Amino acid sequence: MKRIGMLTSGGDCQALNATMRGVAKTLYNLYDESVEIYGFIDGYKGLMYEDYRKMSKDDFTGILTIGGTILGSSRQPFKKMREPDPNGLDKVEAMKTTYRRLRLDCLVILGGNGSQKTANLLSEEGLNIIGLPKTIDNDLWGTDMTFGFQSAVDIATNVIDCIHTTAASHNRIFIVEIMGHGAGWLTLNAGMAGGADIILIPEIPYNIESVIDTVIHRANKGHGFTIIAVAEGAKTMEDATLSKKDYKKRVEKMLKSYPSISYEIAAQITAACGQEVRVTVPGHMQRGGAPDPYDRVLSSRMGAHAALMISREEYGQMVAIKNSTVCSVPLKEIAGKLKTVDPDSDIIREARLLGIKFGDEKIK
Ligand code: F6P
Repeated sequence: MKRIGMLTSGGDCQALNATMRGVAKTLYNLYDESVEIYGFIDGYKGLMYEDYRKMSKDDFTGILTIGGTILGSSRQPFKKMREPDPNGLDKVEAMKTTYRRLRLDCLVILGGNGSQKTANLLSEEGLNIIGLPKTIDNDLWGTDMTFGFQSAVDIATNVIDCIHTTAASHNRIFIVEIMGHGAGWLTLNAGMAGGADIILIPEIPYNIESVIDTVIHRANKGHGFTIIAVAEGAKTMEDATLSKKDYKKRVEKMLKSYPSISYEIAAQITAACGQEVRVTVPGHMQRGGAPDPYDRVLSSRMGAHAALMISREEYGQMVAIKNSTVCSVPLKEIAGKLKTVDPDSDIIREARLLGIKFGDEKIK
């Protein structure tokens, strides 16, 4: 009899359910149904406060295509894990106690960056942990791809596609703001897939003059409209020189005047060109709905691999995909590392060859 715990932690994404289904289905097959699965409610919170339910085989049927997470999720910041809760509870000890009380053989954690840091912490504390890489941001170190990312690219691309037709009809400048504070993968991929003219991502700080120059240049060449894909965390060249603390202050100040960075950019373009700029923010839509076929396959493969790892007792690892092969990486090697877009990578070079601007071009 295997006793397995499962939780989904952090911001949700598509294919969380598909991944859990992949783990469960494979476990039931491998152990001839001699498996007990405990699902913790709302991520680490459920593990801390012993809020869980014993899952049945039926819980995992019919969920391949369903977005969100049947277990619920919450953000429990890693940096607060060592702080007691408002009632003085030691969170880490509480999680270990729940694990031991349920006599779990392994805890499967579906989560992004912060969640994998906590997964590593629990592994270092002696629990048998397997991580699964979830996030629409695709910013987890050690894996080429996270599940959720491609589905979010589909949605963000669809938004840009829709904006394209109305922008062309009205000869307008449009900004589409795409999720991603620390990494620009989603904006870069959706921007390229949607044919954006300018893409602004945190990894390539922009100069607003250069962005304005591109807009004017396009207008002079007879292009009536311009589409700008802006990551939530896009930074100016000046922002990039600031300390973390000063950058936080600058963002707080900006948020007093604008809802987000895209609106500041829009106002700057309007001030310089006199042309109206419309901003579209798809926001959490990018995390919602059904996983796309790519994510359904990826998450099923990763789930099956996680179950195999349980059978081999390969703990303290996160499932990953590298060069199309599903594999695993030690949690201690990936925890706390962010995978960001390399400004010198092929994809950026190719995008530039296509004529896409990143706002760092010299003004001619
Ligand atoms: O980490 C995933 C993510 O969707 C980011 O892209 C986004 O910046 C953030 O979560 C939004 O967080 P919340 O759901 O807490 O508003």
